[in-house]
Amino acid sequence: MTPEEFRRAAHEAVDWMAAYMTRIRELPVLPAMEPGDLVRALPSEAPLEGEPAENLLAGFRDLIVPASTQWNHPRFHAYFSVSGAPPGILAEMLIATLNTNGMVWKSSPAVTELELVTLGWLRRWLELPEEFFGIIHDTASMSTMHALLAAREYVAPLSAERGTPEGLTVYTSEHAHSSVEKAAIAVGIGRKQVRKTPVDAAFRMSVEALEGLIAADRAAGLRPCCLCATVGTTSMASVDPVAPLAAIARREGMWLHVDAAYGGNYAVLPEMAWLREGWSEADSIVLNPHKGLLTPIDLSVLYTRRPEVMRGALSLSPEYLRSATGQEAPNLMDYSVALGRRFRSLKLWFVLRSYGRAGLEALLREQLRMAAGLAEWVSADSRFALCAPVELSLVCFRLRAGDEASRQLMEAINASGHAFLSHTVIEGRFVIRLAIGNYQTTAEDMRETWARIQDEAGRLVGPA
Ligand SMILES: Cc1ncc(COP(=O)(O)O)c(C=O)c1O
Repeated sequence: MTPEEFRRAAHEAVDWMAAYMTRIRELPVLPAMEPGDLVRALPSEAPLEGEPAENLLAGFRDLIVPASTQWNHPRFHAYFSVSGAPPGILAEMLIATLNTNGMVWKSSPAVTELELVTLGWLRRWLELPEEFFGIIHDTASMSTMHALLAAREYVAPLSAERGTPEGLTVYTSEHAHSSVEKAAIAVGIGRKQVRKTPVDAAFRMSVEALEGLIAADRAAGLRPCCLCATVGTTSMASVDPVAPLAAIARREGMWLHVDAAYGGNYAVLPEMAWLREGWSEADSIVLNPHKGLLTPIDLSVLYTRRPEVMRGALSLSPEYLRSATGQEAPNLMDYSVALGRRFRSLKLWFVLRSYGRAGLEALLREQLRMAAGLAEWVSADSRFALCAPVELSLVCFRLRAGDEASRQLMEAINASGHAFLSHTVIEGRFVIRLAIGNYQTTAEDMRETWARIQDEAGRLVGPA
C-alpha cells in the first residue's frame, strides 16, 4: 500500500467510522448468527497475491461488522457496559502509526514519560498519595497477576529467585472476579489456596468471616499472603469495606490489593469519595479506564505503594537493555512480565484532555443517575424485584414469577437486537444485569429499553 493508497483508504475508513458512530442505534447490538458462520464465509487460505485496499474495507464492512457484537452501542448493557469514545479512537490510529515500543525509556521516551504523566493526573483525581506508582497493563487480570507477584515477594522475599514457597494463601470475596483465582494459578500459589470469604447482606466481604478464615489457616501452619478487596463486584457491583480490611492486612503482614477495575472509575467523582476509603492503605489498586473512562479496550492501570517490591519481583534487566536512567524515567519493563509496551497512555491522554475532568464527571454522574432511575422503575413495578443495592451503574433485577420467566425475558430482549443484557446468579436465583457505561447512552434510551422490558414482562407474566 503506497502512502497515496493509504491516504485514500484511510479517508474512506474514517468516513465509515464517523457514520458508524452516528447510525449505531440502527444496528442490532448482538449479531444474529450461529457459531462457525464467519469461518464458513471466509476463505480457508490466505491470498497469494496482495489485494487492493477497497477489498479489505469491503470485507470489514460486509463480513466483520455484521458478525461483531456492538460493544460501542448505547444499548449494550451486558457485562460491564464500556465505550471507546472518539478521542480514544483517534489516539489508537496514531498509536498504530508510530508503532513505537516502550520496553525501556530509551526504546521510546514518550511511551514511558506520557505513562508517568497521565497516571499522575489520574492519581491526583483519585486523591491517592504521591508515593503511588502507576503502570499500564492490558487488562485487570494482568494487573491483578502482577499484584500477586508483588504480594508473593513481599511475604516471601526471594520468591522471584527460588519459586513460590508452599502454603501461601489468598483471601477474597465469594463474589470476587475469577481473575484473582487465575492470578493465583499463574504465580504458583494455586487455586485451592484462594479463600472465598462469605459476604454480608449487602454482598460486602464479611470482616468477621475473614478473621475466621485467616485464624484457621494460621492454625494449620499456612502463610496469609494477599487480601484482595473488590470495589464494584462483577455480579452486583458491591463494594468491600476496604478500610477495615486494610487494618487486617497490616496486622497480618499481608499485601492488600484492591480490584476496582470497574468501580474505581466512579471514584473520580467527589461525591463518590466513599468508594476510595482505605485506598491509601492499600499496597496495590487496579482500575480499568477501558471499563469506565471511555478509553478503547485495552487499558488497565495498576497503582502500587511499593514499587520497589514490584520491581524486586520482576526485574532482571539483561545487559543489552540496560541504560543509565534516574528516578524521572524508570524502565517500565522492570515492573512487568511483558517486555514490549504499547503506547496505551496516548489514548488515555487524549480522552482526559478532550473531556476534561468536568466532562468526564458529568458523564459518570449521568450514568449513576440513569441507574438510580431504572432502580426506581423496577421497584415501582410489582412484577419485578430489585436484587442488590444500586450504588454504581449496574441494576440487578428479576421477575418475581421465577427464574425461567426472567431468563425468557432477557433472551427475548437480546434476540430483538434492541439491547444486550446479561445475567448472574444471586442467592440461587437467575438475575438480569443491566449495566450502564456507554458515552452515548441517553435517558431516552433507558426509557425505551425499560418500556420494552415491561412489554415483554406483559407477554410472559401479564400486566403489572
Ligand atoms: C471486578 C472485575 N475485576 C476484574 C475483571 C477482569 O477484567 P479484564 O477483562 O480487564 O481482565 C473484571 C471483568 O469484568 C471485573 O468485573
